[in-house]
Amino acid sequence: MTDLRVHIGVTTLKNPILTASGTFGYGPEFEPYLNLHALGGFCTKGISLEPRAGNPGVRIVETPSGMLNSIGLENCGSRVFLDEMLPKIAAYDTAIIVNFYAHSEEDFVKLAATLSESDRIDALEMNLSCPNVKQGGSVFGADPRLIESLTAAVRKVTKKTLIVKLSPNVTDITVTARAAEAGGADAVSLINTLIGAAVDRRTRRFTLGNKIGGLSGPAIKPVALRMVWQTARVVKIPVIGIGGIATLGDVIDFLLVGARAVQVGSANFVNPGVAQDLVEGLDRYLAERGETLDALIGSVQE
Ligand SMILES: Cc1cc2nc3c(=O)[nH]c(=O)nc-3n(C[C@H](O)[C@H](O)[C@H](O)COP(=O)(O)O)c2cc1C
Repeated sequence: MTDLRVHIGVTTLKNPILTASGTFGYGPEFEPYLNLHALGGFCTKGISLEPRAGNPGVRIVETPSGMLNSIGLENCGSRVFLDEMLPKIAAYDTAIIVNFYAHSEEDFVKLAATLSESDRIDALEMNLSCPNVKQGGSVFGADPRLIESLTAAVRKVTKKTLIVKLSPNVTDITVTARAAEAGGADAVSLINTLIGAAVDRRTRRFTLGNKIGGLSGPAIKPVALRMVWQTARVVKIPVIGIGGIATLGDVIDFLLVGARAVQVGSANFVNPGVAQDLVEGLDRYLAERGETLDALIGSVQE
């Protein structure tokens, strides 16, 4: 087997294939479909300090080559996650990356400190970019000064690998990526969903209960690929690519433009075993060419 290891902060991933937050539950839901030990790691559903019920009404709608969601960050809350969920996933031989969010700097810091007490959590992924919540995340994700100060505040309370997940709903992703780096992030992951809407023209109502939602899936891949490329050129920390990844070709494209690792999101809803297929595919691809992962990363000709 080819050496597929990658280093992100203080974490060594056994390979660069991760699953994206909100598309992989808390982990155990996917046990029937794939060997979780095969993955580089997985990102949990976004955790908040307190449990959250999420948005009412229709929460998901299919769109051409993608989907819109307005889940509203439903989750079990940090206490239930640490006491009940984490013990169920602790034995997995893969990196556990906890995606988390809050509505104030104080709560972000409190939550990061609480999560950092667990030895089994490998990394924290700070979500600044959820478009479904009316206050909070989206505000942080659009303001570089807030991103830098928030990242610095969270950095002070955790020694764990700190990944800042960026929103694509900004004018210039390199500005927000640099702000996360300046604040002390170990890596940036991008992109979260693009804000969209759908209407039902028969009822003349918005399709989603929340009216607007986050667009994901193959439809957003070109946008994500462009943003990952732009970001990888300007930051020194690793970039984790996310957006429409469904095939081995997609994985290679993101690595070529400079991603050190990738996350598979909506594709898990089409084929819940796809992430393992991608690990095996990447291994074969490199072995057949006698190429190293390091040589592949960032090797696009400019
Ligand atoms: C149903 C659903 C729920 C999501 N929940 C979260 C979340 O809780 N936290 C987060 O940071 N991103 C969340 N995302 C965003 C994904 O992690 C990912 O960034 C996005 O879907 C783009 O990747 P994709 O095109 O491969 O799906 C969610 C996406 C979907 C489709």
